Amino acid sequence: MSKRLAVAVVGLGIGRAHLDAYATLPELYEIKAVCDLDDAKCTSAAATYEAAIATTRFADLLQPGIIDIVDICTPPATHRPLVEQALAAGLHVVCEKPLTGSLGDADAIVTAAKSAKGTLSPIFQYRFGNGLQKLKLLQDKGLCGTPYLSTIETSWRREADYYDTPWRGKWDSELGGCCLAQAIHAHDILSYVNGPIKSVFARLATRVNPIEVEDCAAITVEMANGSLATLAVTLGATEELSRLRFMFSDMTVESRSTHPYRPGDDPWHFKGRTPAIDAAIAQAFSEFKPSPESFAGQFARIHASLTTASPLPVTLADARASLELITAIYHSAATDMPVTLPLPPDHPSYQSWVPNRRSWTR
Ligand SMILES: NC(=O)c1ccc[n+]([C@@H]2O[C@H](COP(=O)([O-])OP(=O)(O)OC[C@H]3O[C@@H](n4cnc5c(N)ncnc54)[C@H](O)[C@@H]3O)[C@@H](O)[C@H]2O)c1
Repeated sequence: MSKRLAVAVVGLGIGRAHLDAYATLPELYEIKAVCDLDDAKCTSAAATYEAAIATTRFADLLQPGIIDIVDICTPPATHRPLVEQALAAGLHVVCEKPLTGSLGDADAIVTAAKSAKGTLSPIFQYRFGNGLQKLKLLQDKGLCGTPYLSTIETSWRREADYYDTPWRGKWDSELGGCCLAQAIHAHDILSYVNGPIKSVFARLATRVNPIEVEDCAAITVEMANGSLATLAVTLGATEELSRLRFMFSDMTVESRSTHPYRPGDDPWHFKGRTPAIDAAIAQAFSEFKPSPESFAGQFARIHASLTTASPLPVTLADARASLELITAIYHSAATDMPVTLPLPPDHPSYQSWVPNRRSWTR
């Protein structure tokens, strides 16, 4: 594979942020094409990013020999068909969160990906902040000790103008509320740090905006490693904040980035149980090499993976795990009961967590 990969970005809302990130990595990526149903967005993005191709037709991108990677940034309900078409055309695929709208759809994508020539990279760009990567370094070195408790807070604000975009706030098109659309990043970090989830109990409410889906959530989680976690989410905060705290037997670790949408970035705070542990933390950080963060951080790592045949930085299994947590959250809230993972294919919410599509009623 040639070193410089030709990329097409589809969907030019958050897709513009993806284009900004590819543009910071010109030695790795050529922005070859932009695609949106809205012709004016295509023309504008093609001019800004000097893309050779601007098209409103997704199928134009699938012709052989034009691009290496299709990056899908369209609304959630469109992801599965676009991902499957791109994989069938033999292309590598990047796909925004949420990958898709049910475990059943996710497993159909897993099956399609197994026989595909290209790879599929779900987006979880919050992982690639240097503060969080320092915690991963300490974990790799075995310095953290036994995990006790994680507290994950996503306190953001969304007002009426956000829901002017017709697909938002509705079960059929957004597929979920704050747990799916906003807090999915912070909740992915819980599993990135502490591994698989064992059980979930969730209370959800819609209190901030007149929408179908939830905009407040209080969730308790038991991890397979025995530690506990609380997940708190609102879209009604008057001051936006994302805060991640991980309490281990040998240290407490806290995100201190003030940017609500970049909690993984430096600075993070690390406090060891003893001066000797603090010294070991400082010694570990003397070896730490900062990397690009956020979208550029994920794209640089995807490029390294594709050109050296090494593992992808975010896997399909990671995206599926995030959807399994979402399924458990919605099932728990709807049934008023805790939910134990993993969820089997005959689980009543496996084919859909969306109230008017699922195969059961309360
Ligand atoms: N990773 C993040 O931090 C982050 C942030 C925002 C949004 N997102 C995700 O990105 C996706 C898009 O969200 P958004 O806020 O940019 O939405 P948006 O509505 O602002 O933009 C989506 C664009 O996709 C276009 N589109 C829709 N269907 C299309 C199709 N079939 N072919 C080509 N273009 C099509 C629309 O015309 C629109 O311009 C969602 O899945 C959302 O959850 C992720």
